[in-house]
Amino acid sequence: MIDAKEKAGMEKDISEILFTETMIGERVTRLGMQITRDYAGKAPLLLGVLKGCFVFMADLMRRVGLRCEVRFIAASSYGSGTVSSGGVRFGELSQLDIEGRDVVVVEDIVDSGLTLKRLRDILTEMRPASLRVCALLDKKSRREVEVEIDYIGFECGDVFCVGYGLDCAERYRNLPYIGVLKPEIYI
Ligand code: PRP
Repeated sequence: MIDAKEKAGMEKDISEILFTETMIGERVTRLGMQITRDYAGKAPLLLGVLKGCFVFMADLMRRVGLRCEVRFIAASSYGSGTVSSGGVRFGELSQLDIEGRDVVVVEDIVDSGLTLKRLRDILTEMRPASLRVCALLDKKSRREVEVEIDYIGFECGDVFCVGYGLDCAERYRNLPYIGVLKPEIYI
C-alpha cells in the first residue's frame, strides 16, 4: 500500500491530469460493451502487450461479457527513456497458438506505431480468424508507420503520459489516473 506521503510525492511530479479515474472507468466500460457486442457468440482471445497494458486489461476484461480468454506477451521498445527507440522485441511468441482464434490485441498506448505494426505482422502470419486492436491511448501525432486501431479509448497529444499502467522508468504505473509528467522529472 502506498502511504499518503509517498502518493503526494508522485502527484507533485504531475503537471496535469488528462483522464481522471472516472473518465477512464466510463470509457473502459463502453469499450467493453462494444467488444461484447461485436464478438457476440464468439470467444475472443484478449492478448495484452506487457507491461503497460496490465491495468487496462484488468478493467477491460471484466467489462467483456463473453467467455473470453486472456493472455499476455512481453514487448519492449522504450527501455527506460521517454522516446520510442523503434527496436521492438517480443517474448514467447512461439508459445502462442492463435490459429483460427478471434484475437483482440490490448495495448495501453500507440505512439510511433512500430510495436503494433510489427506485432500485427507477426500475428497475421499465425493465421487468426480475425485480428483487431484495442488501445486505451492513441498518440496519433507521433505516428511513424500507419497502423489500424479498431477500438480507441482516448486520443492524446504529444505529452509524456503516466499512470494507469503507463510508466516513466517503471514508476507511476500505480497512479489511478492518466497525467502528464513534468519535463524536469525525465530530462
Ligand atoms: C509502450 C506501449 C506500447 C509501445 C508503443 O510500451 O505499451 O507497447 O510502447 O510505442 P510505439 O507505438 O512507439 O511502438 P513500453 O515499451 O513503454 O513498455 P512497457 O509497456 O513495459 O511500459
